[in-house]
Amino acid sequence: MDNRPIGLLDSGVGGLTVARELLRQLPNEEIVYIGDTRRAPYGPRSSEQILAFTWDMVNFLLSKNVKMIVMACNTATAVALENVKTKLDIPVIGVILPGASSAIQQTTGKKIGVIATQASVRSGEYPKAIHFKSPSIEVTSLACPKFVPIVESNEMDSSIAEKVVKESLKPLIGKVDTLILGCTHYPLLRTLIQKTMGENVKLIDSGAETVRDISVLLNYFMLNGTEREQINHQFYTTAGIESFQTIAEKWLNIGHINVMHTEIED
Ligand code: SIN
Repeated sequence: MDNRPIGLLDSGVGGLTVARELLRQLPNEEIVYIGDTRRAPYGPRSSEQILAFTWDMVNFLLSKNVKMIVMACNTATAVALENVKTKLDIPVIGVILPGASSAIQQTTGKKIGVIATQASVRSGEYPKAIHFKSPSIEVTSLACPKFVPIVESNEMDSSIAEKVVKESLKPLIGKVDTLILGCTHYPLLRTLIQKTMGENVKLIDSGAETVRDISVLLNYFMLNGTEREQINHQFYTTAGIESFQTIAEKWLNIGHINVMHTEIED
């Protein structure tokens, strides 16, 4: 048993979709979350920058004495997971493998789509993970660079969001039976994505799938938290707290959330 917190990192608010599922499935776990909102989005950045920024967040989480790190960001996972994993002596988990495995299980017509950031698409990590297990599946990847700025600016319910989602997803309509939301920001646009793709297309939330694997790792390494009265989740952002707090309270639905600002140097 281990009551140290689990560290979650993301370029902004997207990782809250993983946090929500973690809090639901693993209520004895405390979390420390860092969103690098000031430097989001990561998707259009170079691999070198994404690696360096991810290390900044990893070091921040290590300073909070976390027992495990969850890269709740597909872009960070695609670029930095292997590098970070080999250098730390605590478990580090990303969101790509769990999402890919779930899509393989759910596809009925062997046609999987992946929507993600430019950096994640460029990395080819999703097709690689899918083809490693199931080479005959057809994978179509599509970068949707306009989605993250919509989510970060809390415009998910706007008419602009509807227009952007419709336009962006056009190349995939009718071409896939399963669609991986390969960026943890995208579940915040889930209703619009489902409406655009049609009810028959199965959407895979890679972050939610990851929590099952986190639970397996906690058991394996005997790191589960115990039931206790006081659990103090901590949420940090590198930008202003207001917008982060609004999205976090709406999305996590656990009452008042204490969001703090932290500086991470460039
Ligand atoms: C981004 O910052 O561009 C999105 C992060 C992700 O891929 O989950």
